[in-house]
Amino acid sequence: MTTNTTPNTVSSDSFIPVNTQTWVNGRHVVRCVKVIQETRDVRTFCFMAEQPVMFFFKPGQFVTLELEIDGQQVMRSYTISSSPSVPYSFSITVKRNPGGLVSNWLHDNLDEGQELAVHGPVGQFNCIDFPADKVLLLSGGVGITPVMSMARWWFDTNADVDMVFAHSSRTPSDIVFWRELDHMASRVSNFSLHLISERIENGQAWHGYRGYLDQAKLEMMAPDFMEREVYCCGPTPYMKAVKKLLQDNGFDMTRYHEESFGEAPEGVEEQAIEAAEIAQEEADALTQSDMSWVTFSNSGQSVQIAPGETLHSAASKLGINIAKACGMGICGTCKVQVKEGTASMNHNGGITDDDIAAGYVLSCCSVPDGDVVVEY
Ligand SMILES: Cc1cc2nc3c(=O)[nH]c(=O)nc-3n(C[C@H](O)[C@H](O)[C@H](O)COP(=O)(O)OP(=O)(O)OC[C@H]3O[C@@H](n4cnc5c(N)ncnc54)[C@H](O)[C@@H]3O)c2cc1C
Ligand code: FES
Repeated sequence: MTTNTTPNTVSSDSFIPVNTQTWVNGRHVVRCVKVIQETRDVRTFCFMAEQPVMFFFKPGQFVTLELEIDGQQVMRSYTISSSPSVPYSFSITVKRNPGGLVSNWLHDNLDEGQELAVHGPVGQFNCIDFPADKVLLLSGGVGITPVMSMARWWFDTNADVDMVFAHSSRTPSDIVFWRELDHMASRVSNFSLHLISERIENGQAWHGYRGYLDQAKLEMMAPDFMEREVYCCGPTPYMKAVKKLLQDNGFDMTRYHEESFGEAPEGVEEQAIEAAEIAQEEADALTQSDMSWVTFSNSGQSVQIAPGETLHSAASKLGINIAKACGMGICGTCKVQVKEGTASMNHNGGITDDDIAAGYVLSCCSVPDGDVVVEY
């Protein structure tokens, strides 16, 4: 829930770096201190904490916002687009999603001075865990946010990292952070910028590439791309095309890292369709013994679900609201503990090995192996 209580200024006396606490993964109340219109449908929101906090995180990681909209609690994940090299605040950069609840709410309602809760920072897609001296940063649309955070980090810290940054947009006016990208490219020799625009509007000056990223453009932008660590984020079709391009070249895919913002990542969608088909085929043959009982220990409520149904869907059937943001095992928002029985989880990095060992699962992507009791 957002509140509007505090003036939008922070006394510089509050900043005493040696005494300032640092950010750790958890729930934090932060205040919006700046809103920046980046393009026609993209805005950056900057946040600070009431008591100054050094917002350290791994560039590429994200936070999950906890909001109350029309009386309902909703959670959505957003990448931290700023860099931990400027640690007294952090920012997220949000694109309006046509018909989308939270992105439009943020654009229409979130203003300077308002407070809200964020969870995080978390995320395995980051540039700290995969050190490299030559990188290729590939982004499409608002998928620029994590790789921008990485580029800002390397730029600000004078890192000895050779960066090729290739960004694809619909039109030149949709390029987020264009001026800052140009600025970085003009200041250091280890930052090479390449912009690709799907189409050019009438009267627009354009010196970049046109169309889509393909083999020829990749070779021109980064002839040595096979030697680079690749970070990719963008719409699902964009990421699929990039992955195929690299695979066709025999690229070592252990050096390819990607982040998906919403649609099911490759494989999950197909698995879901397959699961639905199997469920349909088996529906007639389904007997009581094929169904699983899911019991939620806090309320003592139980529900019987069909094979393939998730723990989150079991909770929804009972009107139990387990917070959910990404719906695909990335953000960790929907974590619950299985107290009895087991569940099979198909996650995308949103849970640690320690949590798994302690019996936690992500309810959005976990199906019970039989009857289970879930603590919730
Ligand atoms: C790790 C991670 C990082 C992310 N980082 C960013 C970021 O940096 N910037 C950013 O902009 N986004 C980011 N996202 C995406 C973000 O979390 C939201 O998914 C996005 O803003 C859309 O949310 P929304 O509430 O506006 O849309 P939703 O309400 O979730 O709707 C999404 C889409 O589904 C459609 N829809 C909704 N309900 C229905 C229905 N009943 N029937 C048919 N269609 C429907 C909507 O029209 C809309 O197009 C990230 C996501 C993840 C998982
Ligand atoms: S909602 Fe993100 S992991 Fe389940």
